[in-house]
Amino acid sequence: MKILITGGAGFIGSHVVRLFVTKYPEYQIYNLDELTYAGNLENVKDIEHSSNYTFLKADINDAEKMVNLFKKYNFDKVIHLAAESHVDRSITDPLAFVRTNVIGTINLLNAAKDHWKDDLENKLFYHISTDEVYGTLGETGLFTETTAYDPNSPYSASKASSDHFVRAYGETYGLPFIISNCSNNYGPNQFPEKLIPLFFNNIISNKALPVYGDGKYTRDWLYVIDHAHAIDLVFHKGENKSTYNIGGFNEWQNLDLIKLLCEIMDKRLGRAKGESAKLITYVKDRPGHDKRYAIDATKINTELGWKPSVTFEEGLEKTVDWYLENPEWLKNVTSGKYQEYYDKQYV
Ligand code: NAD
Ligand code: DAU
Repeated sequence: MKILITGGAGFIGSHVVRLFVTKYPEYQIYNLDELTYAGNLENVKDIEHSSNYTFLKADINDAEKMVNLFKKYNFDKVIHLAAESHVDRSITDPLAFVRTNVIGTINLLNAAKDHWKDDLENKLFYHISTDEVYGTLGETGLFTETTAYDPNSPYSASKASSDHFVRAYGETYGLPFIISNCSNNYGPNQFPEKLIPLFFNNIISNKALPVYGDGKYTRDWLYVIDHAHAIDLVFHKGENKSTYNIGGFNEWQNLDLIKLLCEIMDKRLGRAKGESAKLITYVKDRPGHDKRYAIDATKINTELGWKPSVTFEEGLEKTVDWYLENPEWLKNVTSGKYQEYYDKQYV
């Protein structure tokens, strides 16, 4: 089986690529990534010489290139993760999100549909999406697979749009597809613009921790490796034309999460209890900030037998330890040095 994984140099994609390359030596894995600011080949350095792994530097916005790559490599299945993924960036540059998340996804859908048109047997377009497409929840309730889409940020609107196109290609052209919508991921290799790695980096550098609004926003957190295992299961066992919500029933208000992170950091850095929390600073809120996300993961739990392997406390400690053990990774990412890696390695 030849599997195209897009966005495999990013945070979640790199864990998915590693899992597939190591667990399935009989599959050929093609990691397609444009290496934007969020793509870092150091994330997959440990598997880059595996015989079943190929890296393809390409932009999903280049429609012709997508067609040519399908012709050249004859992919059987796609796991599509490449995207612009940060909500704050979508507020300052919505069009970048329309280009990659909507048009880029359509380019891939067109390439897959045209290449597979004579034989749709054993083909799959697996689209990785987010719980943010469902909008925001009040104090109670959970997002299920049938919750109506109600996106509030340019990021979530672009992901919702791409989900609709995937489903429409399934209905209109018979393209076999699956969509999964996951909650907030955390863990090793996350770019330090997202809450947990940003705050880790600020704590070690004794910089302010910018809490948006009153900090009473709720997110449902999942360890990235647990998400990769869920993707593996959905890819192999999921039903055509289905959606799966992925989450760990693990809601945290931002302030509680930040205080827990500060406590762990105090211990790891040998600081007095409460020292890191002094860095908490309330700043202007994110426009259109969704109040609460929470996933009902009953379907994937019961139908596919998936559940997370670590508690949030364990996962957060593992994450902090990974960042402490990999200061070079963080240094290279914050200095932009990681972007030289491709030239050194491949050009
Ligand atoms: P990320 O920003 O860390 O990585 C995105 C990757 O896509 C990068 O390697 C980047 O270089 C690549 N990319 C971006 N534009 C590209 C283009 N035009 N052509 C080719 N490659 C391109 O993102 P992530 O957090 O790993 O998220 C991966 C996917 O999972 C996204 O689709 C995101 O919407 C979804 N998702 C993320 C989360 C989360 O909490 N991070 C939760 C649910 C769903
Ligand atoms: O729910 C899934 C989504 O989770 C993914 O689809 C997105 O790709 C991913 O970025 C994430 O979106 P969020 O906006 O929830 O993640 P972020 O880490 O940016 O913010 C988490 C919460 O922390 C949110 O309520 C905003 C708040 N926050 C964030 C930052 C960066 C702060 O208070 N201060 C900050 O500096």
